Amino acid sequence: MKRIGVFTSGGDAPGMNAAIRAVVRTGTAQGLEIVGIRSGYEGMIAGDLIPMGPRDVANTLQRGGTILLTARSKEFLTLEGRAKAAANLKAAGVEGVVCIGGDGSYRGALKLMEEHGIPVVGAPGTIDNDLYGSDYTIGFDTAVNIALDAIDRIRDTAASHSRVFFIEVMGRHAGFIALEVGIAGGAEVIVLPEDPIPAPICADVIRQSNDKGKRSSIVVVAEGGYKGGAQGLADAVKACSGIEPKVTVLGHIQRGGSPTAMDRVLASRLGAACVDALMAGKIGIAIGQVNDEIAHTPFAEAVEKRKDINRSKYELAKVLAL
Ligand code: F6P
Repeated sequence: MKRIGVFTSGGDAPGMNAAIRAVVRTGTAQGLEIVGIRSGYEGMIAGDLIPMGPRDVANTLQRGGTILLTARSKEFLTLEGRAKAAANLKAAGVEGVVCIGGDGSYRGALKLMEEHGIPVVGAPGTIDNDLYGSDYTIGFDTAVNIALDAIDRIRDTAASHSRVFFIEVMGRHAGFIALEVGIAGGAEVIVLPEDPIPAPICADVIRQSNDKGKRSSIVVVAEGGYKGGAQGLADAVKACSGIEPKVTVLGHIQRGGSPTAMDRVLASRLGAACVDALMAGKIGIAIGQVNDEIAHTPFAEAVEKRKDINRSKYELAKVLAL
């Protein structure tokens, strides 16, 4: 193998640049030429390829976002789109590809392999932490810390005014961020897509907290935890109980900013392990980190299996809210 490509795809995540940097530098160290594919699968289809050397990734380790840009490509979902992308890679002499993204990106990579024989390996890049085959995904730790900082600030004003706040964090299909910041931020209630709570139950918990002498309450809601998110739940709670929650939606602020040390190290290890796997001919796999060791999971398994939230953490959160 002489030349490999690297791209980021789907929602950006802090630490993606550290992963790109690791691919470029460890690949170069092993005698490979590296080609950056810009804007994910969209750029693959458009032939937006750039050569990348070690100096091209200088001063990127601490930067959020992705220097290679990203996209959610509709065209790549078509046979024609994938054929164009594969033809561009082959014309550029790209013999293997590193995909940094979430499960949608992995599904695309699998198709590229199956339909066109392009060797691909993946690194889990999403703040949602919902990829099977890795204890943590690149960007999760940073997103959690950003959301936690916001919750700490909201708690100050909630306590001062004796108010109930519903705070929505990202996680359309998974509650990993909500659970983590719910525990770290001392939430009275955590609402997860994995265990949706009806509004009257949520209202009861808030009332009981009040009866126990708590003057303010924080409810952390994953965006997919209730129809209409935190606002939808707040409206339903108000309608059934008269409680008048304030609502804050943290939104994309959770996806930006400088990656934490944990995300930088994780991304660096995973990027390097992707190059190692390609060089060893281990393809069609998602690279992850499990118990602090590099782990390989076939793409097909990584996209089919669902990583569950840690149920004992969830139970602990309920006790801690006493
Ligand atoms: O990056 C993952 C994620 O943040 C989800 O939690 C969220 O639902 C989605 O991406 C939103 O992405 P966008 O609106 O930028 O497409």
